[in-house]
Amino acid sequence: MVQLTLPKGSAPKKGTTHPTPDGAKNTRTFKVYRYNPETDENPSWDTYKVDMDDCGPMVLDALLWIKNNVDASLAFRRSCREGVCGSCSMNIGGRNTIACTSGIDEYKGEITISPLPHQPVVRDLIPDLTQFYAQHAAVKPYLKTDTPAPEKEWKQGPEQREKLDGLYECIMCASCSTACPSYWWNGDKYMGPAALLQAYRWLADSRDEATGERLDELNDPFKLYRCHTIMNCAQVCPKGLNPAEAIGEIKQMMVEREG
Ligand code: SF4
Ligand code: FES
Repeated sequence: MVQLTLPKGSAPKKGTTHPTPDGAKNTRTFKVYRYNPETDENPSWDTYKVDMDDCGPMVLDALLWIKNNVDASLAFRRSCREGVCGSCSMNIGGRNTIACTSGIDEYKGEITISPLPHQPVVRDLIPDLTQFYAQHAAVKPYLKTDTPAPEKEWKQGPEQREKLDGLYECIMCASCSTACPSYWWNGDKYMGPAALLQAYRWLADSRDEATGERLDELNDPFKLYRCHTIMNCAQVCPKGLNPAEAIGEIKQMMVEREG
């Protein structure tokens, strides 16, 4: 039988267990992945008790509480704290999501927090998303036209506009792509659900004039066709979007243009 082991230096070890904060009567426990590239130490799982009478209701509030009260070195990304910037995505309780709209009450017992899976880790909860953003740029996520720009604006009727619902709301948090096994194994060649949802957002736009060029770019055994409809993407998306459905629409457009 094949035995898989983590390379020496990457297996997380048990880390520091921080004491219950003085006077706290109502605490929740968070087990947080820590990695410091400036030391030779393996990553570790540090345990923190958060005083819930002194902390907001969201998982991001708990991380901020830990940073402000226990351990200022804890590193994570965040900006808007209201589910629109996508920067606080991480794996919480075994599921990719965004920390700022995840209620602590949604989780039972000890809450485990780690970086988005299968990406290099920069530090603690911060993954290196260089490849993810390069794939987004590669789908040319902007209006492409050949006809001269109208004096005022590119017009779009209500029905044409409706076709963008379920697509434009994507906040590029990467929860979907990093939950996708096809992306784990072939992330350098397969575009992944987030980039493909963005690709379809522009293919579906009535104002865009680069449909043929966009389909040509995606017509590749890996870039598009490594989607095997596993559906993890739709299950984890914190905005309730369905990248697998968008990928299906692109495949359908490929078929229709061949026919
Ligand atoms: S489709 Fe959803 S999960 Fe994927 S990047 Fe966009 S918002 Fe995040
Ligand atoms: S901080 Fe912006 S989505 Fe969470």
